[in-house]
Amino acid sequence: MRIISNSEEETFAAGEQLGKKLSRGNVVLLTGDLGAGKTRFVKGIARGLGIREWWKIRSPTFSFRQSYTGEIPLYHFDFYRLKDIYDFETIGIDPLDLEGGVVVIEWGEKYAQQLKNFFDKKIYSVKIEILDENRRMIEITEEMEEF
Ligand SMILES: Nc1ncnc2c1ncn2[C@@H]1O[C@H](COP(=O)(O)OP(=O)(O)OP(=O)(O)O)[C@@H](O)[C@H]1O
Ligand SMILES: [Mg+2]
Repeated sequence: MRIISNSEEETFAAGEQLGKKLSRGNVVLLTGDLGAGKTRFVKGIARGLGIREWWKIRSPTFSFRQSYTGEIPLYHFDFYRLKDIYDFETIGIDPLDLEGGVVVIEWGEKYAQQLKNFFDKKIYSVKIEILDENRRMIEITEEMEEF
């Protein structure tokens, strides 16, 4: 599915729509240049999931991971600075811990194949392309377990 967003509010709304469809164990990988709107989209996902503190969401660039509680918890990662994807424990990824929630990873596409093997779950890929100052092209694809 492709959407043209004309504002950060529209990107938030697109995230919110996706958030309403997600269920436990789903993984969302976000791709797009710096400032594309990945974190705005994640905020929308959080609100769609019913996370009360959705407004607190910002890029967890220095911690790699932030968790938000809710009926379905949200685990938000940013792999921009990540060098070694294999060292999952140091960044706090244990799929057994994360199974009960929704996992959202900014810059996750860098490691898409490893993540797919690792999580072995339904994965949504969200690509955000900067068209101009306020416009973005958002492409959402849903991938099932068999790749
Ligand atoms: N249509 C749009 N959708 C989303 N953000 C937009 C849009 N138009 C302008 N912006 C601006 O682009 C910026 C997006 O910031 P955001 O932190 O969400 O990007 P990001 O992709 O997470 O960046 P980073 O890679 O640094 O984490 C904000 O400053 C926002 O106001
Ligand atoms: Mg971000």
